[in-house]
Amino acid sequence: MDGERSVRRRRLDDAAIAAAACRKCAIGYQRRNNVYGEGDACARLMVVGEGPGETEDQLGRPFVGRAGQLLDRMLQAIGLPRNDVYICNTVKCRPTFEGPTGPRNRAPDAEETENCRRFLEEQIEIVAPRVILALGSPAAKWFLGPTFAITRMRGRWYLGPRDVPLMVTFHPAYILRLTGGQIDAVKRLVWDDLKAVRTKLDEPEPIVAPAEAAQVGLFE
Ligand code: URA
Repeated sequence: MDGERSVRRRRLDDAAIAAAACRKCAIGYQRRNNVYGEGDACARLMVVGEGPGETEDQLGRPFVGRAGQLLDRMLQAIGLPRNDVYICNTVKCRPTFEGPTGPRNRAPDAEETENCRRFLEEQIEIVAPRVILALGSPAAKWFLGPTFAITRMRGRWYLGPRDVPLMVTFHPAYILRLTGGQIDAVKRLVWDDLKAVRTKLDEPEPIVAPAEAAQVGLFE
C-alpha cells in the first residue's frame, strides 16, 4: 500500500494546491487559510464536517478547535487514532458573517457548497474510503439532499458517492452546545452511530473476483 499511499498523497497535495488557488466565492478572499483536509491518503474512514471554524482558518487544518478535540476522543473511543482517518469538510474556506466583535462562523450557503463540491468529490475518489461518516446536518445534506432531517434520519446506513457506505451522526460542536439531560441522551445516540461505523470497518473487505479483476486490469 505504500506505493499506492504516496501516489494518493501526491494527488491530494496537488488538489490542495488547486483548492487554495480557488477564489470562486467571497469567503475565498476573506479566509486566512484554505482548509483542504488531512489524514491518511489510504484511510478506511473519511470524516466529513461542515466547514472550517476560526481555529481551523488560523491553522489551515480541519477539526483542530474544541469540536476537533471532541472528534479526536470520539474516534479514539472506537480505536481509531486521528492519523489513521482522513478528515475534511464540505467547504474548504471558513464561512463567516460580521458579528458585533468581528467575524463569526456560519453554515456554508448553497452557492459556496456547490462551488466547493468538486474538491470533496475528488477527495472521496482519491482516498476511496471503506466508510464515510458525515457530521451534522450540512454535511448530511451534501450527501443526501436538502430534505435530510438529522434527528429522524441519522444512525442508519446510506449509500454515499461511489457506493461507499455512509453514516450520519450529530456534529461534535452540537454536542458541546447541549445542556442538562440532553447531553447524555445525544452522546448515547452518537455512541451507537460510532459503534456501527466500527462494526462496518471490521467487516471483511470484499474480494475482487478474478474475472472482474482482469476486467479492471489488475493483472496486466
Ligand atoms: N467544524 C467543522 O465542521 N469542521 C471543522 O473543521 C471544524 C469545526
